[in-house]
This record gives sequence, C-alpha cells and structure tokens, in this order.
Amino acid sequence: MKRVKVAPSILSADFTNLGRDINKVEAAGADWLHIDVMDGMFVPNITIGAPVVKSIRKITNLALDVHLMIVNPIRYVEDFANAGADYITVHVEACEENLKETIDLIKQKGVKAGVSVKPGTPAEKIRPVLNDLDLILVMTVEPGFGGQLFMVEMIPKIREIKKMLRENNLFNTCIEIDGGINAETAKLVKEAGADVLVAGSYIYNAENIAEAVNSLR
Ligand code: DX5
Ligand code: ZN
Repeated sequence: MKRVKVAPSILSADFTNLGRDINKVEAAGADWLHIDVMDGMFVPNITIGAPVVKSIRKITNLALDVHLMIVNPIRYVEDFANAGADYITVHVEACEENLKETIDLIKQKGVKAGVSVKPGTPAEKIRPVLNDLDLILVMTVEPGFGGQLFMVEMIPKIREIKKMLRENNLFNTCIEIDGGINAETAKLVKEAGADVLVAGSYIYNAENIAEAVNSLR
C-alpha cells in the first residue's frame, strides 16, 4: 500500500505550549500540520484564527493544512492565505451559494484548495467542483471537537469519492480523513482510499509521538 501522509491536529495540543507541541510532531516525522478553525456558528465550538496561523508559520516548516469550520468562509480566505496557509479547506455545507467562487479565490491566492463534507452530507455534493480541488476532506466524526469516536459508516463514502476521482482521471486530488483516527481506524480508511490522515487525540495523547505517527502509515 502507498505511504499515506500524517497531519497531526493541534486541537489536541497544549495551547500554553503550542510551539513546543508543534515542534514535537515535526520532529516525530509528521507531514502536515492540521489547524482546526471554528467560529461557534458552523460548529458549537470556537478555536483559533488567522493571527495564530501567522505565528505558527514562523516556527515550522510543515505544510499548514487549515480546516475552516466557519460560516461563509470566503470572508476569511485572504486572511488565512496571507497568514501562510498551504491548504485551505472549506465545508460545502458552509458555502452552498458560492462554493466555486470560494475555491477560485483560494487558488487565486496561491493556496491549495480543499472541500470538506460532514458525515450527513453525500459525496455527490462535491461533484460540481470536483475538477477544481486539490483535496477532499471526509469527516468521520461530527465536526466541532477532538477525541470523538470514528464513524465506520463513512467508509463507503470514502470509497465512492475514490471512485469518482478515478473515473474522472483526477489522480492528483487527495482524500483526507478527519476524526477518530488511530492505528486501527487508519487501516480501514487507507484500504478505502485515504491519502492523508488527520489525528489529534491519538497523537497528542501518545506516550511516544513518533511511534504514534508511524503507526498510522
Ligand atoms: C474535529 C476536527 C478534527 C479533530 C480531530 O472537528 O476537525 O481535526 O482535531 O480530532 P481526533 O483525531 O481526536 O478525532
Ligand atoms: Zn479538522
């Protein structure tokens, strides 16, 4: 099986020692850094904004994978692009009127564009913009919090998206999985077609972070 990328989520880091906790996963061989942005509207939780991303950009070489769980994300694309995001992912449910416009703006800013679907959203919702994406993020928990249980019923959706990409010869678009990833669930999603695995609590709660990162590959 191909080597998947691992993107630790700082949502489970110690925010009083954020720099240290980012350096830890970088030293452990992580590929990307996953940054969960929540607005208390699209999801019932508030996390961090562009100024924090800007500070993170200065202390790590990891690709910054920014997951926007905010209403009408087009309003903040420029801020996160300027802050140094390498990937900006928006939710289809958060921008139904202007999804294509939002993706175009992300790309115009020189950032790779991703779209995410919540567990209740069918894969078909991505089809209208399929050709425009660098990444598709499949949520395997309800977005909002770390440390939730993996929803195994999302596996068919991952397979369906893999098939859609293959049928359209989109071999460079990656499938990222977010929520409840550990060594066991990683096997299931890799087998279904995942290219990038987000993991928060599994990595940050581990005794040995390098071992935890490697166990996902
Ligand atoms: C949830 C976030 C996830 C979260 C994953 O809304 O999008 O990135 O940090 O946490 P774990 O890996 O603990 O499920
Ligand atoms: Zn996330």
